Amino acid sequence: MSVNPATCTCDAVPEEELLARLDEVIADYREKPGALIPVLQIAQGIFGYLPEVALKRIAVGLDKPFSEVAGVVGFYSFFSTQPRGRHLIRVCLGTACYVRGGKQVLDALKQKLKCDVGDTTADRNFTLEVARCFGACGLAPAVMIDDDVHQRVKPARLQAILDQYAAPADVPPGHAGGGDGIAQQSLAGAGVAPGHSPLPGHAGGGDGIAQQSLAGAGVAPGHSNVGGE
Ligand code: FES
Repeated sequence: MSVNPATCTCDAVPEEELLARLDEVIADYREKPGALIPVLQIAQGIFGYLPEVALKRIAVGLDKPFSEVAGVVGFYSFFSTQPRGRHLIRVCLGTACYVRGGKQVLDALKQKLKCDVGDTTADRNFTLEVARCFGACGLAPAVMIDDDVHQRVKPARLQAILDQYAAPADVPPGHAGGGDGIAQQSLAGAGVAPGHSPLPGHAGGGDGIAQQSLAGAGVAPGHSNVGGE
């Protein structure tokens, strides 16, 4: 389990200091072609999200219209102009996941987390989003939390999954990061952009108890070497 790297929730650093860090990044990238997206990515890492003050600073620093900067942020789902939680939950609503109960999973999550899509929980531990396909269609419905893909998710199993990502003070005894029989795959390092698998298709099967990492295994996302359903 990992903490979403783009979700620094440290509130202790003054905004001026964060902006000073951003200024250094802008200075590094100013002369480079295609600087906007990497600067935005780093800025999101610095702030935890992309506040308007940062977007304005980037627009001025890179000599671009604010509308262009805001347009790029709005186009890519990776970017967020709202503070994000410690863990990012993405519920797949691609066709395979949708017909196998993805919508019910999403509704149950909204109820459990008491927040809507795009929102962050009151304790800032989770941000809830939807996505189209993780390339794990063969084991739909799928839910991605940070870099972990949970497969064959059912509403009744959601609490066990969420317990794995509970804020440290809230971890129930005996639930600290433990497995619960829920299959997980990590796409980290496998070249999969969040929510945008380049090879949506058939992730192969599993038996609901395997925990696999595709990272470094040479397995293309969506083409797991595990046996099918
Ligand atoms: S449709 Fe959900 S993983 Fe492909």
